[in-house]
Amino acid sequence: MKILVTGGAGFIGSNFVYFMLKKHPDYDIVVLDKLTYAGNLSTLEEAMKNPHFKFVKGDITDRPFVYKLFEEEKFDKVVNFAAESHVDRSILEPEVFLMTNVMGTQVLLDATLKFGVARYHQVSTDEVYGDLPLDRPDLFFSEDTPIHTSSPYSASKAGADLLVQAYNRTFNAPVTISRCSNNYGPYHFPEKLIPLMIINALHGKSLPVYGEGLNIRDWLYVEDHCSAIDLIIHDGRIGEVYNIGGHNEMRNIDVVKLIIKELGKSEDLITYVTDRKGHDLRYAINPEKIHNELGWLPETKFADGIKKTIQWYLDNEDWWQNIISGEYTEYYDKMYTNR
Ligand code: NAD
Ligand code: DAU
Repeated sequence: MKILVTGGAGFIGSNFVYFMLKKHPDYDIVVLDKLTYAGNLSTLEEAMKNPHFKFVKGDITDRPFVYKLFEEEKFDKVVNFAAESHVDRSILEPEVFLMTNVMGTQVLLDATLKFGVARYHQVSTDEVYGDLPLDRPDLFFSEDTPIHTSSPYSASKAGADLLVQAYNRTFNAPVTISRCSNNYGPYHFPEKLIPLMIINALHGKSLPVYGEGLNIRDWLYVEDHCSAIDLIIHDGRIGEVYNIGGHNEMRNIDVVKLIIKELGKSEDLITYVTDRKGHDLRYAINPEKIHNELGWLPETKFADGIKKTIQWYLDNEDWWQNIISGEYTEYYDKMYTNR
């Protein structure tokens, strides 16, 4: 079995690589990654030592390059994590989101058909469903919830999902799609809420909470996302969408306060800043379908996962120090100074 993992130098893709190398030691895993600001080769250092692993630098929108790779490697399955993934950046510069997330997906779908790949899996997001009101805790996203996007990021992910479904209906492409809620865990890029708050708190820097911090996200430990994708690419039904989430809804302000408490810092670090434009209020996944069909259940409770995650950032300062010293500083200033 040979699996192409695109975007495998990013947060979830790299966790998926480690998950698969451990769970299926006889599988060959090839990562294709452009190494944008969010991709980091040092994340894959351990994987590089494994003879079943190979890294290829390249862009999923580069059709000739992708075709050549598919022709040479003869993949059995493709799992597409490669994407521009940060909502705030999509508000600053939408174009690259459409290029990578939509056009890149199309190139991978064409390559899947052309080279007879048995399964193409699209890693999508609950953000394609838009948001839920804060005062209706009884509502959840199911696979039938209409697509209704808020940001250029989510619109580009929704565009990709629609294309994946169209390729299935029109060309019989052997596809599956998963839509997961917010992940957290090791190798999470510091621009996202949880690692940003951990790293700022460690530096005694202010903790920028958007609006009043009342927006709700449904947090899932990254390994649980990986185990769900593993099940889907083996036993998921072709043409189907599977929602992934662990019923762990939290207000942003409560997540931030928990991190502060775990690190023994002061809540005085919290600074309420101008809200994100178009800010989605609440995400909440109904994961019944993947549970009933594939027997998936999350293993890590948030109380344990957040402790493990904080410990990982304490133990791996080299990893994030490297990142926050580069392009990240420029981005941080643009996004947060005078906000
Ligand atoms: P990330 O930003 O950490 O990683 C993205 C990776 O894709 C990086 O390694 C980057 O170098 C690579 N990449 C970007 N453009 C590329 C291109 N044109 N060609 C090849 N590689 C390219 O993202 P993440 O948080 O790991 O998310 C991975 C996927 O999961 C995305 O598709 C995202 O939409 C989806 N998702 C993320 C979450 C979450 O909470 N982070 C939740 C649900 C779904
Ligand atoms: O739901 C899945 C999505 O989760 C994925 O598709 C995205 O790729 C991923 O980035 C994530 O999107 P969010 O926008 O929910 O994640 P982010 O970490 O950017 O923000 C989480 C919440 O925290 C959100 O309500 C905005 C808020 N926030 C974020 C940052 C970076 C703050 O209050 N302050 C901040 O500095």
